[in-house]
Amino acid sequence: MSASISIHPEFAIGSIDRRLFGSFIEHLGRAVYGGIYEPGHPTADADGFRGDVLALVRELGVPLVRYPGGNFLSGYDWEDGVGPRDQRPRRLDLAWGVTETNQVGTNEFAAWARKAETEVMMAVNLGTRGPDAARALVEYCNHPSGSKWSDLRIAHGVKEPHRFKTWCLGNEMDGNWQIGHKDAHHYGRIARETAKVMRWTDPTIELAVCGSSSRGMGGFGEWERCVLEHAYAHVDYVSLHVYYGLNGITLAKFLAKSLDMDAMIREIVATCDHVKAVQRQRKTLYLSFDEWNVWYHSHAEDKEHKRWQVAPKHIEDTYHLADALLVGCMIITLLKHADRVKIACLAQLVNVIAPIMTENGGRCWRQTIHYPFLHAIRFARGVALDARIASSGYDDNELGRVPYLEAVATWDAATGAITLFAVNRHEHEALPLAADLRHFPEHRVVEHLVLEHADAYATNTADRPDTVAPHARGDALLQSGRLEASLAKLSWNVIRLGLVR
Ligand code: AHR
Repeated sequence: MSASISIHPEFAIGSIDRRLFGSFIEHLGRAVYGGIYEPGHPTADADGFRGDVLALVRELGVPLVRYPGGNFLSGYDWEDGVGPRDQRPRRLDLAWGVTETNQVGTNEFAAWARKAETEVMMAVNLGTRGPDAARALVEYCNHPSGSKWSDLRIAHGVKEPHRFKTWCLGNEMDGNWQIGHKDAHHYGRIARETAKVMRWTDPTIELAVCGSSSRGMGGFGEWERCVLEHAYAHVDYVSLHVYYGLNGITLAKFLAKSLDMDAMIREIVATCDHVKAVQRQRKTLYLSFDEWNVWYHSHAEDKEHKRWQVAPKHIEDTYHLADALLVGCMIITLLKHADRVKIACLAQLVNVIAPIMTENGGRCWRQTIHYPFLHAIRFARGVALDARIASSGYDDNELGRVPYLEAVATWDAATGAITLFAVNRHEHEALPLAADLRHFPEHRVVEHLVLEHADAYATNTADRPDTVAPHARGDALLQSGRLEASLAKLSWNVIRLGLVR
């Protein structure tokens, strides 16, 4: 068993957009109510936002949060969520079978995002609504003043425009579970017409059009081709979504799933470039992987819901170490496509398939998946480097050869920081890694962080929040341009290198 990589400053894949480490908050379960917002909580601030959750989100440093959905978006009237709170309607949310109180809406979320030091990736409803509601929302959010909707925002006490830059044109419109589901031609035309009026309202915004809701959809690839045939010239990104689970498959197969994500990205890049060529377009389209995660623990429990509750426990997965390793492999995969994937959102941020969990009225803690995400946000800076991996591996009947080593390097030329992110997929053995770093002669190892546990299924809970947490006792050693490290079985590794001072 062995693995080797070679890192060279000229093997840059692409520059890393900070928005690659975005996340997502939907009006779903306890993400908003009981997650970010809980006026009665002991740590709540004057606006009702939980201070303990805000502190964890700031610690994470997540640069972008997609809002307000998700499936919720496709039945949402944004007007319900603005203006005096006591006049806001309670609505039946048909996407999740719950009651939405509308106590949090656009302005509250923008205020929360400011406190959380993050940007909002906003979305318009193309399920039950269309271009007219979308242009009104852009005007309400981004136009300074002197028009119907911008003046309404000011009347609601928000003088300065939010200036949301990035917008989603609906959500998962190819799925028949979606409120207002459409075929590709229908959606492509509506997306195009909506994009036009949104951009005429604010030419500075960027737009993401819906791709397929998963690679398993019958129309995957063809949906994107058809939608882009209508909308290519009017949008900047196409969205991708994926969730993986460990139900009924082996751990080896589960940990290989990032190869499926890799294939998915390549296929959508090819589709975008096909439309670009056929239409003789000059601009290149980028990818917005605006929902990705592991999701399966809560499936059985979620079948039991009583309808029309307010903010019930819903889609609350408790993650173990192995889940965190696949999340790590998925982060590495996103970085390997940093040239084309510019936005990605770990779905979601709090309580709902989330790195941060809370108790209503009580504690909050970090799940296992929190750590690879945190490390990527903190240390993946500058450009992603093609690490030229050679590794022993195993065969998967669907995905082919799976290397035990999943890895990518990042290099920030401004500070000299190099970070190697690596997962050892082997269930029983440490993986000896050798890295050729001769082209970085002035570097030394700053630290080697490791996320590991004797039990691959160990979890963090409110009572034991630090069961699975990273340590800095990795053994990476750099001598004469050769870095050696032993990557523990089933481990996530962050090897940080800096310039010798
Ligand atoms: O993130 C949970 C749900 O998954 C979202 O609402 C939807 O877009 C996707 O199917």
